[in-house]
Amino acid sequence: MKSFEIKTKIYFGDQALDRLAEIPYQKVLIITDPFMAQSKMFSLVLDPLKKGNKEFEVFKEVVPDPPIEKISQGVKAMLAYRPDAIIAVGGGSAIDSSKSIREFALRVENYGEVGLIAIPTTSGTGSEVTSFAVVSEPKEQLKYPLVSPSLTPDEAILDAELVKSVPPAVTADTGMDVFTHALEACVSVDRNDFATALAEKAIELCGVFLLRAYLDGNDTHARQKMHSASCLAGLAFNSASLGLNHGMAHQLGATFHIPHGRANAMLLPHIIEYNSDINKHSKSRSEYLPAVKRYATVAQILGLSSYNEIMTVRSLVNWVQFMLKEMDIPLSISQMGTISEEEYFGAIDRMADAALLDACTETNPRVPRKVEVVQIYKELW
Ligand SMILES: NC(=O)c1ccc[n+]([C@@H]2O[C@H](COP(=O)([O-])OP(=O)(O)OC[C@H]3O[C@@H](n4cnc5c(N)ncnc54)[C@H](O)[C@@H]3O)[C@@H](O)[C@H]2O)c1
Ligand SMILES: [Fe+2]
Repeated sequence: MKSFEIKTKIYFGDQALDRLAEIPYQKVLIITDPFMAQSKMFSLVLDPLKKGNKEFEVFKEVVPDPPIEKISQGVKAMLAYRPDAIIAVGGGSAIDSSKSIREFALRVENYGEVGLIAIPTTSGTGSEVTSFAVVSEPKEQLKYPLVSPSLTPDEAILDAELVKSVPPAVTADTGMDVFTHALEACVSVDRNDFATALAEKAIELCGVFLLRAYLDGNDTHARQKMHSASCLAGLAFNSASLGLNHGMAHQLGATFHIPHGRANAMLLPHIIEYNSDINKHSKSRSEYLPAVKRYATVAQILGLSSYNEIMTVRSLVNWVQFMLKEMDIPLSISQMGTISEEEYFGAIDRMADAALLDACTETNPRVPRKVEVVQIYKELW
């Protein structure tokens, strides 16, 4: 038996942030990063809280790829203040920190129900509607997803005004994260019609609006559409889960601090090729792997189609490479110029082990062997 649920109530459109004046909570802890806390935009969040006479405090210690140490700092802040809700304001790092802080604090001291409202300021992770939170363990060079329904936010507020300040490189990385979520949800072994419907819409929006949002951050329409796409893709993978692309990207993030979306984007052409096995020229059409058909459907949504399914999947790989080039995302680790060959190859064995253990890898359409994961990491160099 399967089920599909959207637990998070989503507020969007003009004046969505006005919801903050009406929330059924009185004392809130805002969790954000130092950039957002000092930004002029922060008043868009504080003003409606003040209007609604809410009492609030700000915890602004979030850092990218939140490490356990920052989470425990947040747990202390939450238990000292004892809010009846947390408002996460920021990218995936702030939202994931908030989820983990609430979860762990209430395990230390369950002082009552605490609501969680997520306000994303990047169009990327979809974390505002998912039961996932990714936490880093820098000493062990590990990054792992926590998965529990109790992590899911109660409310999400989507206001694309908050995303306009995102610089082009982060727009590119986070936008490719959206695309990867949607694509992995479409080919996952846990895919289902509900998740696929959401993912396909997200893919269509990325195809039309990602490059526009990258080229002009003030293109309000493109920003709004990418903000919707991010949330739709989050809903999709919350149900269908992800795959090897995320399993391997987490290790690149943990080991070399490559931004999450960028690591996904760079791996994407390799993972599509691996999952569809399109480099095996000798195979007859009847032997194509099941992912081929689903990738071909995605390619068609993007307006790419060719005279057979394999060629169509190739055009999807080419489209991803085109997007990477257009948005100045390196195609290989060596092209980044920041990681030495020795360092990278020295980490591959450990990264491959960790990628195979990553919860996201479980739902990949092709069950990877270690030698294959090692090979993909090598090709990425
Ligand atoms: N929970 C999930 O379901 C899920 C899914 C995918 C990824 N993740 C995790 O989320 C994290 C990545 O999140 P992210 O990609 O949103 O990036 P992020 O939250 O780490 O932010 C990236 C950078 O952008 C800056 N930033 C954020 N909003 C901005 C704005 N409006 N204007 C200018 N700068 C802004 C931040 O200060 C930061 O420096 C990773 O840890 C990743 O593993 C979680
Ligand atoms: Fe992601």
